[in-house]
Amino acid sequence: MTKAIIVYGSTTGNTETLSKSVGEGLKDLGVEVLVKNAAQVTPEELKDYDGIILGCSTWGDGELQDDFVSFEEEMGKIRLDGKKAACFGPGDSMYPQFCKAIDILEDKLKECGAEIIMDSLKIDGDVESELEKVKDWGKEIAGKL
Ligand SMILES: Cc1cc2nc3c(=O)[nH]c(=O)nc-3n(C[C@H](O)[C@H](O)[C@H](O)COP(=O)(O)O)c2cc1C
Repeated sequence: MTKAIIVYGSTTGNTETLSKSVGEGLKDLGVEVLVKNAAQVTPEELKDYDGIILGCSTWGDGELQDDFVSFEEEMGKIRLDGKKAACFGPGDSMYPQFCKAIDILEDKLKECGAEIIMDSLKIDGDVESELEKVKDWGKEIAGKL
């Protein structure tokens, strides 16, 4: 069975909500999915999965959400060659660095050797109204794993 991990970082719960919908989309197409907070997983564990999906909100002036800061640093020590990956997250286009955390994580995954298989999903503002779209994004990933 194809296995995917969704790692999220979320301060007020928006990315966590999105993670669940991405997971539902993957599961609907038969992918085995684990959803984990970035604070409770190490980059080393990513190696056990075919698909690696990172979800992170942007804070400060274009910075990673707190739980992803050390995770992203630790990613510098691992290789993810042959792995398929994608990134998503919420943000607010009122900020100059809209959803910058997603771009940071995508670049990191590429540095590790992973292949980015989907355009990233950036949700501007309210997440609740976007959950069907988010689930469909998860389904599309499932079709590419
Ligand atoms: C102090 C502060 C700084 C923020 N900075 C950014 C930013 O630079 N870029 C962006 O797109 N969104 C920014 N946001 C918006 C958050 O990313 C957005 O509220 C997001 O939904 C939070 O998701 P979370 O609950 O999963 O952490 C900021 C929000 C706050 C309160």
